[in-house]
Amino acid sequence: MTSIKNNIPLQAYNTFGMNVKAKRFLTIKSTEELQRLIPAEKGPYFILGGGSNMLLTKDVSALVLKNEIKERQIIRDFKNSVYVAAGGGEDWHQFVLWCIKKGLGGIENLSLIPGTLGAAPIQNIGAYGVELKDVFHALEAINLKTGKLEKFKNADCQFTYRESVFKRKLKGKYFITRVILKLSKSPKVNVSYGAIKNTLTEMKVKTPSIKDVSNAVIHIRSTKLPDPAKIGNSGSFFKNPELSARAFKKLQKAFPQIPNYPLADGRVKVPAGWLIEEAGWKGKRIGDAGCHAKQALVLVNYKNAKGKDILKLSEKIQASVKKKFGIALSREVNVF
Ligand code: EPU
Repeated sequence: MTSIKNNIPLQAYNTFGMNVKAKRFLTIKSTEELQRLIPAEKGPYFILGGGSNMLLTKDVSALVLKNEIKERQIIRDFKNSVYVAAGGGEDWHQFVLWCIKKGLGGIENLSLIPGTLGAAPIQNIGAYGVELKDVFHALEAINLKTGKLEKFKNADCQFTYRESVFKRKLKGKYFITRVILKLSKSPKVNVSYGAIKNTLTEMKVKTPSIKDVSNAVIHIRSTKLPDPAKIGNSGSFFKNPELSARAFKKLQKAFPQIPNYPLADGRVKVPAGWLIEEAGWKGKRIGDAGCHAKQALVLVNYKNAKGKDILKLSEKIQASVKKKFGIALSREVNVF
């Protein structure tokens, strides 16, 4: 069992590279270890995975629990599909590559997303036409009040676009120890997203394998999105707004060129990146806080920006998008 460490710098533990400290910090390597801790340490806790979807604006006073539970295992093997279990502390992208190597399809479009398995369900990660919920079977998590291990099936997680029950009602209440996905042994690739199709054509691939799709996604992501190892960021800072059909029609009248994705329920999703670019923010910089030059939805820390600087920039962007389009952008990144 590892012991609690004091005054730990968190800069290397969050992809924005914010230089704040944790008063108390503990690495969790197993379910049992956390269950032994809970009766003695009543909380509050601060759960840390890959730190890739958070903006830290101050030192963390709650006990930081760093999820390092590791496991990669096929737990049920059927003719066409398998159930794969992964520890909450596993790196997402390494896990994706491991599945592809085994010929298991379903998450290749989610290649190169930073973060851990345990964090993936919290915001129902998604990219290039696929969301985690499409392959998610269940998860196991420790209730931080009782110390009991509980199981959540797909429906229990209440997944929607970049949302789950763990971001709403159960926020901060559970530590996700294990995620179980259902993957396919005879995968059908999903190349519905235009950028993937174009990249595969450029790569001269006619009948793409899951590995080809993964390579295409890696190519697209690395040309558009800043590498957090070089420039601090947390991917998309805002969610793409989903508008009612009526609100969208009105908007389209004023801005006929607005890109849009109709949803099954009649609403229409519009890209926040486009709204931000049109509002004039793409490539802008205030001190070391910036709006990325190749993808306006991503805010970046060029070096010494503080969490508050990024937050201030994000609020300025929200205000000008609101003024120009009447749309209130909501954050995708969690601010602490
Ligand atoms: N666009 C612009 N200017 C920009 C950025 C985007 O005009 O600066 C417009 C373009 O019309 C483009 C459209 O927005 O065609 C969509 O852009 P993109 O394909 O880059 O996707 P996105 O909607 O900006 C979402 C996810 C990303 C995910 C991509 C690909 C959200 C909040 N973001 O971005 O996820 O990788 O789709 O599927 O849904 C993340 O969540 O951290 C993330 C990076």
